[in-house]
Amino acid sequence: MIENIATTTPPYLSAPEEKLEVIESIQDHIADQLSLLSLPGDEKNWQPTDFLPDFAKDGWEKDLEELRESARGLPDETLVVLVGDMITEEALPNYSAAFNRFAGANDKTGCDESPYARWGRAWVAEENRHGDVLNKFMYLTGRVDMRSIERTIQHLLVNGFDLQHDGDPYMGFVYTSFQERATKISHSNVAKLSQKAGFKDLYKMCKLISGDEARHEEGYKRFMDKIFEVDPNGAVLAFEAMMRTTITMPAQQMLDDRDPDLFEHFEIVAQKAGVYSAHDYADIIDHLIKRWKLETITGLNSEASEGQEYLCKLSARYRKLAGRIDKKVRDYRPIPFSWIFDRAV
Ligand SMILES: [Fe+2]
Ligand SMILES: [Fe+2]
Repeated sequence: MIENIATTTPPYLSAPEEKLEVIESIQDHIADQLSLLSLPGDEKNWQPTDFLPDFAKDGWEKDLEELRESARGLPDETLVVLVGDMITEEALPNYSAAFNRFAGANDKTGCDESPYARWGRAWVAEENRHGDVLNKFMYLTGRVDMRSIERTIQHLLVNGFDLQHDGDPYMGFVYTSFQERATKISHSNVAKLSQKAGFKDLYKMCKLISGDEARHEEGYKRFMDKIFEVDPNGAVLAFEAMMRTTITMPAQQMLDDRDPDLFEHFEIVAQKAGVYSAHDYADIIDHLIKRWKLETITGLNSEASEGQEYLCKLSARYRKLAGRIDKKVRDYRPIPFSWIFDRAV
């Protein structure tokens, strides 16, 4: 029997009663999306060690040397984006905590059987292998300052992460739809850079991570598809509210005891390397507008109609801004990163 979410949600998770009822009413739809996520026994499942030398087997020395040789060809710019992506993934406990603040969709016991809780745990289990494989990989390359990277991860975890949704599950799922697409783009572009540097295993690894992010993105978008169907006014307003606060990047609070503007500098390098830019931000808005058919929704109340108008014009505004950021990025002088022993990129 499905429990009544409205009466079992802790009071600190604030969402209006009507939204909690919608979240509860679409549980079967959420359950249908669980097949998007892989579980330990699945045939196509991958694990971090699939890409790493196996120290329990003879001949690991050769595999390790091959990895290190390939890594020597990676430009510093690629190393910095790889490290930044890895640090982002390594702050997974913060994202897991954030998911559990989505009112009505939270895991009430820690091993709750509701579709939201099952999704949340299987999603975290997939995310876990991203930071895991990237961390081990970067360590083995011998090309990065692992201690500085570890300090940055610790800072990020200590500083926390607020996606500014006030417990609102609609806003939470808009955020995750957006953010999963952003990470998919980022890992996919790092895969391309690895291919360019002739590093096949790293290419495959980043492609697989990007594939995981694509399934996550699809899942969260489907959650929102249904919310748009059941409660279009609430869905539009949540999308609007999320975009008005702008999407907080998960690694925004990273620090390394050296560079007070570390995240901003990482963003500049990611933009320069063509891994993730303000143009991608605008493209994602466009994509979500199309996916949720914002331009053609009819019958909205006046508040939601205003939100619809705001959203439909939004990507054009971000595109203009992206042009200005391009110029700023071009003019930036190389920045030293502690992650790569203070070499500047
Ligand atoms: Fe990830
Ligand atoms: Fe993901």
